[in-house]
Amino acid sequence: MKKYFFANWKMYLDFNESLALAQSYAENFFDLPEDVVMSVFPSSLSLAAVGDTLAQAGVSYGPQNLYWVEKGGYTGEVSANMYKAVGCEYTLVGHSERRHLFGETNDDVKNKITAALAAGLTPVLCVGETQAQREKGDQDLVVKEQLDQALKDQNFSENKLIVAYEPVWAIGTGENCSAVSAEHMAEKIKTWVKELLPNLDTPVLYGGSVRAENVSEYLKQNNIAGVLVGGASAKITDWQGIVKNSV
Ligand code: PGA
Repeated sequence: MKKYFFANWKMYLDFNESLALAQSYAENFFDLPEDVVMSVFPSSLSLAAVGDTLAQAGVSYGPQNLYWVEKGGYTGEVSANMYKAVGCEYTLVGHSERRHLFGETNDDVKNKITAALAAGLTPVLCVGETQAQREKGDQDLVVKEQLDQALKDQNFSENKLIVAYEPVWAIGTGENCSAVSAEHMAEKIKTWVKELLPNLDTPVLYGGSVRAENVSEYLKQNNIAGVLVGGASAKITDWQGIVKNSV
């Protein structure tokens, strides 16, 4: 069973800081065990340069977002094909900060998945409920709807999809979702994805305030194949701690 360590650097680092961190990743993680998959999601500004450094160390990389049209007059956007052309393997899609800060809809997420698949990128589909939705007991409804909308009528010809369960209230807050409750949702996600895409075996990751101190609790769970980490992935000592406590 593969273990996934996905690092979302968000907009934490400028170009030079990103390159320096990529260099530290390359020095520390060039000999990861076979079953460990590490991927980094830097800003689009630094992605190609970071990618060159990481590729030498066997660490993959991809964008935090993309646009679904291939080329054209779309100021400020970058397409899936353009990311693929600089060696990206994965792409985040539908991260909660995209959904909640930038108004990304389930429809947009669906279009981005279609474009990612067509370009040969593996989408990392992020799903998760807000605090208010959880308080109403709507988390299952919300997450299932996000999956249904993103995955219906897609052309998954190869086994290519990762889902990250990231409860919005646990992201960047230090308030972590218990491993047991993350596992419950991961199990449901696996079932719902199987109903939509019976031929896929989809790894489910957990994300939201993952730290060196709690990572092994998540990874012990049967249905959690890895972690998607924001803040703690942007500092080399924290990230080393996470990897060391799990590999
Ligand atoms: P966090 O972010 O680890 O800083 O909570 C996780 C994410 O947004 O992917």
